[in-house]
Formats: sequence, structure tokens, C-alpha cells
Amino acid sequence: MKTKKADHRFTEDIAREYEMITLAYPDFEALQRTMVEGIDFSRGQEQPFRLLEIGTGDGFTTVKLARAMERAGDGAVLTTVDISAEMLAKARDLLEGALGEHHVQYRQMDALAFLQDEPEGHFDVVATSFTLHNFERTYRESVEQQIHRVLRPGGVYTNADKYAPSGQEQFDALALHIDHFFAAFLPQGKTELLRKWVIHNISDQSPRHVMFVDETVSRLEKLGFREVRIEQQTGLQAVLRARKG
Ligand SMILES: C[S@@+](CC[C@H](N)C(=O)[O-])C[C@H]1O[C@@H](n2cnc3c(N)ncnc32)[C@H](O)[C@@H]1O
Repeated sequence: MKTKKADHRFTEDIAREYEMITLAYPDFEALQRTMVEGIDFSRGQEQPFRLLEIGTGDGFTTVKLARAMERAGDGAVLTTVDISAEMLAKARDLLEGALGEHHVQYRQMDALAFLQDEPEGHFDVVATSFTLHNFERTYRESVEQQIHRVLRPGGVYTNADKYAPSGQEQFDALALHIDHFFAAFLPQGKTELLRKWVIHNISDQSPRHVMFVDETVSRLEKLGFREVRIEQQTGLQAVLRARKG
């Protein structure tokens, strides 16, 4: 059983982590908000609304999704999947503190393995935030295929994440991004964090990880998504929305 002390420690850790993320990515909240506000929670069918989140993390997106899902009516369920038990524990703690009673199912599993086990057409929406850019390309493409399979016809896939422009624009945006990290972390003396963010963000733009806007849109269209849109492109980040045809 959790103690009060453990709860308090989690809350402090989560608040600190959130502060660092928003320092590094000032658009983080705005992108997540756009992603969540763009979800249509009206199902127009008998079954309760089913929303899947991939990559729970600390639960920052999960809280926003769970709040917005109140519009979906009775019985709506948010399933959130993360490979890390530690992250899920933090998210559960955050959600219980922020929302009290809520209808969230936490699944500790590899995202692709989870998706492969789910029935076709099971979810109304698959939402994810700042997770897929960490996946290697071939794995990510399998995840996208499975997202398409598990969505009902007309269901929506949405992702607030790192979607890069190509060519010189990509490198100009990366340079600005790194310049911003220096401005944010150096005055706070957080040099080790600065080093990690710089390395991570360079690796995000490498051939192994990069998610180019144009490539992603045409790949999703080939998978059978329609109305594939990139919104709120700010440097290397954007919100993607697509509907299963
Ligand atoms: C950067 S966090 C994003 C968290 C949250 N969505 C947000 O926007 O704050 C990425 C999360 O994806 C999880 N993750 C990484 N690889 C995964 C995989 N193969 N399957 C499921 N979860 C994974 C990590 O454990 C981590 O919690």
C-alpha cells in the first residue's frame, strides 16, 4: 500500500519533471491541448466510447484525455499503455490526485504487442503524445499499421509529437531548438540535463528515428487513412490527425 510520504514524493517528482519538459518545449502544453481538443467524442452508436492512449509516461496527456472524455458520456473507457511499470505508477498517482474517480485502464505492455492482441475496429480514437518519435522507424511503421487495424471505420488517430520538415528547414529548426535548450537550462545550472536533451534531440532527427511530415502523411494515406492533417507545426513539432477510411 502507498504511504502519504510516497504520494508526496511522487507529486513533487512529477511537478519537477513537468516543469523541465515545459522549459525544454514551451509548446508542449499547446500541442497537447490542440491534440485533445480536436478529438470528437460523439460516437453516435450504442457501445460506450473507447479511447486508447499509447505511451502513458507521467500521465500528463492522460489527465487531459480523461478530463475531455467526460464529454463522451456514460461508460466511456480510456485505456493507456506503457512498457514501464514505473511510469504507469506515476501516472496513476497523478490521475488519482487530479481527478479522483475516473475510468482509466492501465496496461503495462509493449505498444506493438498490445495492439496486435486487440480486436480489429475496437477503438474510436487512438491518441498519443511525444512517444512515437522514440520508436525506431520499422517498429513505428508496424505500430501505425496496427493503429489503423484497431480503429473502427471513421475512427481517429491523433499524435502530438516531433514531425520534422525536411532538407535545410529540418536543420535550421534543430539549431533553434538546441539554442533554446541552452537558454533554458544554462541559467539554472542544469548542464547535465542540457547535455542529455541535446543528445536526445539530435538522435530524434537521425535517420533511425526521424518522422518527416511528408513521408508520414503519404504512408498513412497508403495505409488507408484519409483526411491526414498536420496542424500547429512549430519548428520540429506538430499535431497529426487522421481518420480511418
Ligand atoms: C516521452 S514519454 C511521453 C509521455 C506522455 N505521452 C507525455 O506526452 O508526456 C514516452 C513513454 O513511452 C513509453 N514507451 C517507450 N517505448 C514503449 C513501447 N515500446 N511500448 C509502450 N510504451 C513505450 C515510455 O516508457 C514513456 O513512458
